[in-house]
Amino acid sequence: MPVTEREPVSTRFIRALSRGPRPSPQRFEAPEVYGREAISRIARALPPIERAYANIRFSILRPKLLSVMDLLLPDEGPILDIGCGFGLFAAYFGQTQPGRRIVGVDPNARRIELARRVSESVGLRGNEFIAGDARDVGLEGPFAGAYVLDVMHHIPEQDQLPMLTRLRDLLAPRGVLVVKDITTVPTFGLEFTRLLDRVMVGWDEPLRYRHHREWGEMLASLGFHVRMVRVPDVLPYPHVVIAATKR
Ligand SMILES: C[S@@+](CC[C@H](N)C(=O)[O-])C[C@H]1O[C@@H](n2cnc3c(N)ncnc32)[C@H](O)[C@@H]1O
Repeated sequence: MPVTEREPVSTRFIRALSRGPRPSPQRFEAPEVYGREAISRIARALPPIERAYANIRFSILRPKLLSVMDLLLPDEGPILDIGCGFGLFAAYFGQTQPGRRIVGVDPNARRIELARRVSESVGLRGNEFIAGDARDVGLEGPFAGAYVLDVMHHIPEQDQLPMLTRLRDLLAPRGVLVVKDITTVPTFGLEFTRLLDRVMVGWDEPLRYRHHREWGEMLASLGFHVRMVRVPDVLPYPHVVIAATKR
């Protein structure tokens, strides 16, 4: 068997030096999708009571849930935030992808005013907020995406399908609608959520939760391609995230 002669270490070392520095690999920069600093900047922009609410809300919609939604939404373009409340997530998703221009809608004028303030305070001047009911407020599409975070179960039963139909019609082809809601199983989780919702909205407002399969069937009947994921939590909220892509 022929014996191959290895170069002495010193020769290899000198050759490596004479090659000069290696070209540095291209820098890869990805903004951190979840940032404590991002969240506290959002909360700090609000008055004390709403700030406390924001902190509670961000402890319910935890990093895992936020990241799932963030990755499902388009990276850029106009995106509708239906039932935007204080604009917490318009500011959050706007910060993770500055190419997004978020249009928030909520019937509560005070929340809309605060949502504007929050987005401005984190430097998102492209976000826009409209006071109105998502079922009939004037909106000019097409939108690259839309999201509805814990709002669908506040919409009266007979209006849920028409509202989803309206959102489909406002989306561009291949646009994504992300629905985050509460599913109806397990019963304990549903009742836990219902109790907290009742504390927030009182006894008169409708609360119409649906099983995630029902939402999936409804969205598929509108021609969407539907994917969904249940996101377990330490608290018993039965979270579900549904991504519906317009074909
Ligand atoms: C539970 S809060 C969720 C707020 C926000 N999406 C979040 O996740 O923090 C429900 C919001 O839906 C809004 N809402 C209720 N009915 C609505 C409708 N018909 N059109 C638009 N927003 C609505 C309420 O005013 C409220 O701000």
